[in-house]
Amino acid sequence: MTAPHRPALSANPRLGFLILLLLPQPLLAADDPSAAIYAEKCASCHGANLSGGNAQSMVDGEWQFGSRDSDLTRNIKFGISAVGMPNYGPTLSDAEIRGLVKFIRAAQKKAGVERPPLPTQLYTRDYDVKVATWIGQGLEVPWALTFADADTAFITERPGRLRVVRGGVLDPEPVSGTPNVHNAGQGGLMEVALDPNYNGDPADGGGWVYLSYSHALGRKDKNGNPASMTRVIRGRVVDNKWTDQQLLFEAPQSTYKHTSHHYGSRIAFDPQGRLYFSIGERGFQDDAQNPRLPNGKVHRIERNGLIPKDNPFADGAKGMPSVFTYGNRNPQGLSTHPVTGAMWETEHGPMGGDEVNLLKAGANYGWPRVTYGINYNGEPVSELQQAEGMEQPVYYWAPSIAVCGSEFCRGEEFPRWANHLIVGGLGHETLQRLAIADDRVMHNEQLLKSVGRVRDVAIDPQGAIYVVLNSPDIVLKLTNGGKALRQ
Ligand code: HEC
Repeated sequence: MTAPHRPALSANPRLGFLILLLLPQPLLAADDPSAAIYAEKCASCHGANLSGGNAQSMVDGEWQFGSRDSDLTRNIKFGISAVGMPNYGPTLSDAEIRGLVKFIRAAQKKAGVERPPLPTQLYTRDYDVKVATWIGQGLEVPWALTFADADTAFITERPGRLRVVRGGVLDPEPVSGTPNVHNAGQGGLMEVALDPNYNGDPADGGGWVYLSYSHALGRKDKNGNPASMTRVIRGRVVDNKWTDQQLLFEAPQSTYKHTSHHYGSRIAFDPQGRLYFSIGERGFQDDAQNPRLPNGKVHRIERNGLIPKDNPFADGAKGMPSVFTYGNRNPQGLSTHPVTGAMWETEHGPMGGDEVNLLKAGANYGWPRVTYGINYNGEPVSELQQAEGMEQPVYYWAPSIAVCGSEFCRGEEFPRWANHLIVGGLGHETLQRLAIADDRVMHNEQLLKSVGRVRDVAIDPQGAIYVVLNSPDIVLKLTNGGKALRQ
């Protein structure tokens, strides 16, 4: 038998190299091992040129399940079982998956679409909604937004700045004299909230501004990470200066952690004016089940820091007196229902199992014993989704959207959405409206997608909805553009 005819490319390596250089781009790419893996394993669903087919395009800048390299890596490695994306962890090495992510990024760059353009109009179920950029520049990782009146708002930036917006204009000077924060990982300056009587008599809460932030001690671990924990203070802003500071909550120093994630932290007030704030489990998941520890909890204190007499662990015998609920993983949304006055919390799960909870004094929300969560290794966190004595979420997301800030709709702007919960998702870059009736979520409508990581939601006195984004660091304003005629 004669040997099969060999193409010139391999017959003369040097000539082959020259020809390869002269060949058009696509064939060169075929030499890339990642391109070959893509063609073999992914093209059948995502399209030969990555522009979609049975599954979505990966070059249109739109990512449903997270846009960061770490999100892509996770989705390829563990799959997204709920929607039929297979898991490649068992068949591809980490290096091969990294190669695929690079390959996808290069294709995306070539297509020139980093993210879809910002919409100016949304067509939602009830309204045509106008979208405008409210603050388009000058912010760095904005974390929280709250309104003092129709004209005045406060914004925190995670690196440690408190900013004031007047008449839609961001004061270029941050408020001076706010405390140093531990700006690392997920930590920094987090929540800003105003006293329920902010515009009233200074003798009765007038002018108080509440902040939560990650506070570090001098004590460091061997990698140089200081011990830190969420802390709550209040003060007043006078002539753009932070004054009258009072410390409201500080955890025992023995409970501080050297991790820099899962700090919580939101603040909200109930109709009696008591202050609720959240601390995540700081990466120590079992701590969430121990009411004697501050992390993995929602706390309740009076506005001056004292412990309400009817707190579930008020006497300190079985838990920290400030603890209101426990078994919470990383609560980053806390909102008071405008009618019932109940406290609603949103909480990050791991890869699955983000939750909306309705908080009850002394209740255990189950983390990590019962959860709909899927761990980052693709395994369920717990065999149990329910257990006696542990609360069920009102609603959950799987896969997780990385649920963050939330706010109840109120005011004139969107009357059909009165008392609906607007929630943001960081990872999935989504803004969703949860229609709530009788303490249940009746349906969920996605309002925005792929415009940026949604960190917080705020409502102004008129009822317009504000969306605080990270990457890009801007704030959007949603107003009523007319009732939808569609039915
Ligand atoms: C059997 C079909 C199928 C195959 C094969 C497949 N995928 Fe997917 N993939 C999906 C589906 C379905 C989704 C969910 C989104 C959608 O509907 O397109 C998805 C989602 C994704 C996402 C998340 C997209 C986003 O919007 O956040 C990434 C990244 C991804 N796939 C990469 C890959 C890679 C890389 C391969 C090859 C190793 C691959 N997929 C193979 C079906 C497939």
